[in-house]
Amino acid sequence: MGAKTDLDRFLGILEAHPKGVSHSEIHDWWPGGGKNRPRMEWVRGTAKNLATQGLIRITSVPSKRGRPATIYQLQSYASVIETQTPGEEIRFENKLFENVEAYLETGRTYRQLKNKFGDGVDSYLHPGAWSNSKTLFKDINKQGEHSFILLPTPQNWVSPIEARDWQYHIPVVNGKMQPYQIIQMPEDVFRMDGRYGQCFGVVPLFDVHYGSNGHRENKFQKYLKWIAKTPGLYIILGGDLMDNALDDGRGMSYDQYIPPQSQLDDMTEMLAPLAHRVLTMFPGNHEWRTYKKTGIDISKILADRLNIPYHTGPVLLNILAGEHKYRIYAQHGFTRPGTKGGQLNSAMKPMKWIDADFFLSGHTHEALVSEDTVLRENAQDGNLAFVPRWTVITQSFMGWLDTYGYRAGYGPVAGGGILLEMFENGERVPSTR
Ligand SMILES: [Fe+2]
Repeated sequence: MGAKTDLDRFLGILEAHPKGVSHSEIHDWWPGGGKNRPRMEWVRGTAKNLATQGLIRITSVPSKRGRPATIYQLQSYASVIETQTPGEEIRFENKLFENVEAYLETGRTYRQLKNKFGDGVDSYLHPGAWSNSKTLFKDINKQGEHSFILLPTPQNWVSPIEARDWQYHIPVVNGKMQPYQIIQMPEDVFRMDGRYGQCFGVVPLFDVHYGSNGHRENKFQKYLKWIAKTPGLYIILGGDLMDNALDDGRGMSYDQYIPPQSQLDDMTEMLAPLAHRVLTMFPGNHEWRTYKKTGIDISKILADRLNIPYHTGPVLLNILAGEHKYRIYAQHGFTRPGTKGGQLNSAMKPMKWIDADFFLSGHTHEALVSEDTVLRENAQDGNLAFVPRWTVITQSFMGWLDTYGYRAGYGPVAGGGILLEMFENGERVPSTR
C-alpha cells in the first residue's frame, strides 16, 4: 500500500462513523488535526463525486443551532481506489459497482442482493443508477418476490453521425430540387501530400454490389479503412452499392448471399462512420429495381439514415476550396457498350450540355480515364488557357468468377482504383492506384 492520501483519510473517518459525520466533525477528526485537513472545497467536491457513484449519501439535518448541517454517510464498504495521473482529475474506481453489475447479469432477488452486498446495494436498485447502455428491470418471480436483472439497452446503430467539416446547398426552384450542389470546403481541406503539392481527394465508391456472391469484401473494407484513416478524403456514393436482387427474374436472387433488407442495414452500419465525408449520393440500376416495383427508393432510405445529400439521378458538384472551384458531373451510368471506346463515348455525352472538370460514372465495372483539352479565354491575363477535362469511369468492387459477367461472356473486371485529386494550386487529376 502506498502512502495514505486525503481520500483514504476522508473514507477512514466515514468508515469509523457509520451513522454519518457532519462537515465540522470531519474538520475535528481529521488525522493530524485540523491544520492538515484539505480545503473544504475539496471535501465537498470529493463527497459529491462519491455520492454520484452511490458510495456515500449526503443528507441535510437541522443542527442544534437550527441551521441545516451536511452529513456524509458511507453507503457501503466498497473498495474505492483512487487513480490519478498528473494533470488529470481524480477518478474513482468503484469495485462495488462492477461487482453488482456482474452479479445482475442473472436475475437476483432483493434478498440475494442484500445478503451479498449489504445495504450499499440499495443505491443501485433504481434505473437512474445505470448508464444508458444498461437497463435495470424489476420483475416478480414465481414466489412473488421482486427480482432484479440488468439487460443491455437497445442502441440506435446508426448514431452518432459525425459532424461535417464542409457545407452544402442544393437549390430548389419551383418546388423541384435541382441536380446541382454547391459545396464549400473548409480552409484547411488540402490535407494530403500529392504529386503537385497539397491536395484533397474524392473517392468514387460505385458498384459495390454488396450481398452478391461476386462482391469483393476485402477490397471494399480496405477502401473504408483507408478513407477513415486519411484526412482530406471525401466520397461520392455512386449507386449499385447494394446488389438488391429481386425475386422477379431480373436480379439473380440465387447469386446473392445476403437478402436486400440486410444489405440495406449492413450498408448503413458500414458507411455510418464515414457518412460525414460523403459529398453526395445517387442510386444505381440495382437499387432502382425496388423503386420500379414498389415506388420505394431504398437508396434514399440509406441516405436519410446517414444524413447524406441525395439525388435520384446525375448531379453537378461545384466544390469550392481555397482559391479554386472543382466541378464534378457524376452519374451512375446506364448503358454498357461492348468496347472501352464505346463506354467512354457514352460517359462523355454530358459534355454536350454541361461544363465540368470531371465526368464521372460507373456501372460498366471498368476503370477508364480519358483526357480532353478545352481552350478557354482567360480574362485575367488575356491569354488562351488550355484546360483539361477528364472522363472517368470508375472501378467496381465486384469480382468475376461466379458472377453474371462471367456467364455473359464479359472479361474479368478492373481490379484497381481511381482517386480524383484536387490540388491547392488549382491542378486536378484522376490518379489510379
Ligand atoms: Fe450498375
